[in-house]
Amino acid sequence: MPIECIVQDNIVETSNINTVFLKPKTDFHFRTGQFIEFTIPGVGEAPFTPSSSPLVTDKFEVTIMKVGRVTERIHALKKGDTIGIRGPFGKGYPIEKYYGKDVLILGGGVGLAPLRSLLLKLLSEVEKFNKIVLCYGSRSPEDVVYKRLFPEWKNIKGLEILRSVDRCPSGKWDETVGLVTCLLDKCEIELSNSVAIVCGPPIMMKFGTKKLLELGHEPENIYLSMEKNMSCGLGKCGHCQLGPYFVCKDGPVFTYEEIKNIEGIWD
Ligand SMILES: Cc1cc2nc3c(=O)[nH]c(=O)nc-3n(C[C@H](O)[C@H](O)[C@H](O)COP(=O)(O)OP(=O)(O)OC[C@H]3O[C@@H](n4cnc5c(N)ncnc54)[C@H](O)[C@@H]3O)c2cc1C
Ligand code: FES
Repeated sequence: MPIECIVQDNIVETSNINTVFLKPKTDFHFRTGQFIEFTIPGVGEAPFTPSSSPLVTDKFEVTIMKVGRVTERIHALKKGDTIGIRGPFGKGYPIEKYYGKDVLILGGGVGLAPLRSLLLKLLSEVEKFNKIVLCYGSRSPEDVVYKRLFPEWKNIKGLEILRSVDRCPSGKWDETVGLVTCLLDKCEIELSNSVAIVCGPPIMMKFGTKKLLELGHEPENIYLSMEKNMSCGLGKCGHCQLGPYFVCKDGPVFTYEEIKNIEGIWD
């Protein structure tokens, strides 16, 4: 049975990305990186990863890019509307494995949504990590998600932030211009004691992983958040199959080592 949630707010982040604030009727616990199925009665279901802190259980946020039928309806939700969610599903990020290490986070576009939840969790126990670096890229300055939050994040001790935009015709950007992968050349990471966590569109994940490998990151220390078609979310229907894995049950987070030999992982 879906968990009923009341929409508390639905705010615009960019021209095609909104963040929906939800209050579940009962407390909702998730691990950062786990996902939910968002149900719009009469329209359908779609999977999304909560973008808020997993430590807060009486409300949560989901940041959603408008691409089709379900996401269009989610963008149109108003304060006070009721929706259903199923989940949480999947395993999420194995945070304990990152203790004592340099944590490099590489995000593209709306891929920053799950990474924001991860970041909030890491920052809640920041002393357990050697250093946290967030590299974030978007198409243009207008497409930057969480513009309202970056000024606050930039003041957090123990967190280094590097941002890029693919292009900036307006000239209103005083940070890096170039694909997000170029930020990796600017990061000072202790390779022998680090993990890299990547989330974004498939093309960015592909080239991000390639660049990390070229720089010397080990396949078993690269964590990828994989997107596949989902249906049941329970490892039963087979819609989300990736080689020997079901992404909904065994993922959505995999190390590159686990999936590198499976054909078509970026499709
Ligand atoms: C585990 C998991 C977590 C996810 N978390 C998030 C999240 O936090 N935020 C978020 O915005 N999305 C997330 N997604 C992607 C999201 O589920 C899809 O965008 C959504 O299902 C599209 O539903 P729709 O009915 O609106 O579009 P559909 O009607 O199914 O698709 C419309 C068109 O858009 C294309 N399309 C679909 N998805 C994408 C995409 N991601 N990028 C570009 N084109 C696309 C389709 O190929 C199709 O042509 C996640 C997906 C998975 C599997
Ligand atoms: S969504 Fe059904 S098996 Fe994964």
